[in-house]
Amino acid sequence: MAKKIALTGIKPTGLPHIGNYFGMYKPALELAKDFDTRYFIADYHALNSLKDPKLVKELSYEVAATWLAMGLDPKDSILYKQSAVQGTFELTTFLMAFTSKGLMNRAHSYKAKVQDNKELNKDPDDGVNMGLFTYPVLMAADILQFDSDVVPVGKDQAQHLEMAVDIAQSINHNYKQELLKIPQAFIKESTGYVTGLDGRKMSKSYNNTIPLFLPSKKLRKLIMKIVTNSQSVEEPKDPDTCSIFSLYKLFASKDQQLELRKKYLAGGMGWGHAKQYLFEIMDETLAPIREKYTELINDKSYIDDVLKDGADRANEIVSRKMDFIRKAIGLA
Ligand code: ADP
Ligand code: TRP
Repeated sequence: MAKKIALTGIKPTGLPHIGNYFGMYKPALELAKDFDTRYFIADYHALNSLKDPKLVKELSYEVAATWLAMGLDPKDSILYKQSAVQGTFELTTFLMAFTSKGLMNRAHSYKAKVQDNKELNKDPDDGVNMGLFTYPVLMAADILQFDSDVVPVGKDQAQHLEMAVDIAQSINHNYKQELLKIPQAFIKESTGYVTGLDGRKMSKSYNNTIPLFLPSKKLRKLIMKIVTNSQSVEEPKDPDTCSIFSLYKLFASKDQQLELRKKYLAGGMGWGHAKQYLFEIMDETLAPIREKYTELINDKSYIDDVLKDGADRANEIVSRKMDFIRKAIGLA
């Protein structure tokens, strides 16, 4: 029996961070064991906010190197750049005809931008380009072009997935056949949102991330910047409301978690110590991936080869799908 298909993408808009790791990379790599996988670098999505060509290129290499450093096998999986698959953009145009403007008005990221503008007394659409406004349509095309079964993403992407489902359903309904496979989000509820240095959701847009591949010294320095309250060393501390502990839990075994929990509750442990425990476990876990990443990022021609091969394989599948769609909708 043919394997099911898992697909996901990430924008090359900054250094991959711990939130991306637990929210997306790790679950996606777990799925790679049992699914046919198509994982990509969402460079056209990144263009909505990033206009510097050198930076777009460099960050795209970094995302590709991250996938490979984490053990994605490029022979088994298809790893490619979004911009290299032409059918995506044709499918996007088709999906546009079935996407109501109202649906896009409800997208969280667009709504949040409008809200920010209102608070700053600016025009509601200030700084909103059509790429941002129609973001979920291109994302739906990324997914639907491959007949994807599951889409491993962090919790913040759930609404985008619902929109892809909505759009696909209205198309299938109109043409009275399953033109497009209905995808399912694969979200690790246990991870939820990974918290950043300031206690908010870790995100490149908030500038509060812990990048995955910092050299040890820099990693330690950054962890020491995690915002804490002013409790003294002696005071017992609550692990369950502490962002240091919530990050520690992601890396630690159950026993290690229990041990640190006891130290929190007993008092006598300062925030500096808690941060040191977090640094040690993070550094130890990330060291081997960091080493591979450094090797890969210095071998761009290898990354080029992998992405070229991925693009060829992706284009073959997507152009077949587009032939089928064109016929079904009366364009061919
Ligand atoms: P960012 O918010 O930093 O720009 P992206 O939008 O590029 O991150 O997200 C890439 C993937 O990582 C998505 O699947 C997203 O849901 C996941 N992700 C990003 N930040 C977090 C976080 N703090 N916790 C869990 N998952 C996250
Ligand atoms: N919107 C996703 C993010 O910001 C990136 C993305 C683009 C994506 N296209 C996708 C994720 C298709 C899953 C499937 O993280």
